[in-house]
Amino acid sequence: MTREVLGRWLDTGLDRSVIGGYPRFGLAARRRLPGWPPDAPPGALTGRTAIVTGASSGLGAATAAAFARLGAAVRLVVRDTAKGERIAASIDGDVLVSRCDVSDLADVRRFAGTVGAADVLVHNAGVLPAERTTTPQGHETALATHVLGPLLMTELLGPVLAGGRVVFVSSGGMYTQKLPLDDPEYTRGGYRGAAAYARSKRIQVALVPLLAQRWPGITVAATHPGWADTPGVAGSLPGFHRLTRPFLRDSDEGADTTVWLGATEPAPPSGLFWHDRRARNPHLVPWTRHGAAASRTMFEWCAEAVGLMH
Ligand SMILES: NC(=O)c1ccc[n+]([C@@H]2O[C@H](COP(=O)([O-])OP(=O)(O)OC[C@H]3O[C@@H](n4cnc5c(N)ncnc54)[C@H](OP(=O)(O)O)[C@@H]3O)[C@@H](O)[C@H]2O)c1
Repeated sequence: MTREVLGRWLDTGLDRSVIGGYPRFGLAARRRLPGWPPDAPPGALTGRTAIVTGASSGLGAATAAAFARLGAAVRLVVRDTAKGERIAASIDGDVLVSRCDVSDLADVRRFAGTVGAADVLVHNAGVLPAERTTTPQGHETALATHVLGPLLMTELLGPVLAGGRVVFVSSGGMYTQKLPLDDPEYTRGGYRGAAAYARSKRIQVALVPLLAQRWPGITVAATHPGWADTPGVAGSLPGFHRLTRPFLRDSDEGADTTVWLGATEPAPPSGLFWHDRRARNPHLVPWTRHGAAASRTMFEWCAEAVGLMH
């Protein structure tokens, strides 16, 4: 067995164990394995523009700062511009703060009209709702934040994104859910925010192969960051946070694969799901599996919901 094959085998073992791979020691171990893909070189994004949604906190702020260190002009897309300006002030480089509520399709349309350049677009904004709420267009908030707004934004930015990259920041939580084809808006059964979150993260991952076909000139990826200590995790999952805090990744570690996907050369293959710089199987258990036809039906439902032709 070569060192590289052994490295891949250990890496997959960490992934399947969840508890071995998702905390900070999972990333630390993988970085030491043979065949760990190298960092993007300094200046890799010079002359490029990177847009990061939800950049006012946690992983989004870390992603934006890392892109700026690689030379990109960075646009922080936030719903709270005061918070965004505080993050921008901590980043050295060409940084612009833009307001957009990505769950509000009208606001996404307005924002997209202001964008003149985009080489990397990271759909990082995320929410785990405490209760079922809906957006101005009547969509369930997690679905709108993670799927509908990002889909519309990418479609509208398609012409400026040609040759660029789009990264959906999903979650390992999606492994627990199957595609909610029968009730995408989560109108039936007892609503649980964690389930709504994971269902919409599952939809992101299911759509990525289709979106890679829809946008052939663009590299489309989904990734999950493992478990990272962010204001979002502390606020939405206080019990989990208290229990796991010593083992959680920091925000830079949580943003590692997002940054790598946005900057490494050559561009990674399009349409895949990634964690710790490796393409991963989007299913851990058989009962979440679905075929291409189910993904297509889900896409068509989402396309209708945001008013796209399909
Ligand atoms: N941390 C982890 O362990 C972990 C694990 C799996 C997946 N993720 C994913 O990683 C991403 C970042 O999470 P995080 O842990 O960094 O959480 P966070 O600290 O709560 O950051 C989430 C960001 O999204 C923004 N946001 C939420 N709804 C928005 C909307 N409608 N429009 C615009 N911005 C919006 C928030 O803005 P405000 O500041 O205004 O609230 C905040 O900046 C999320 O997609 C999350 O699901 C994180």
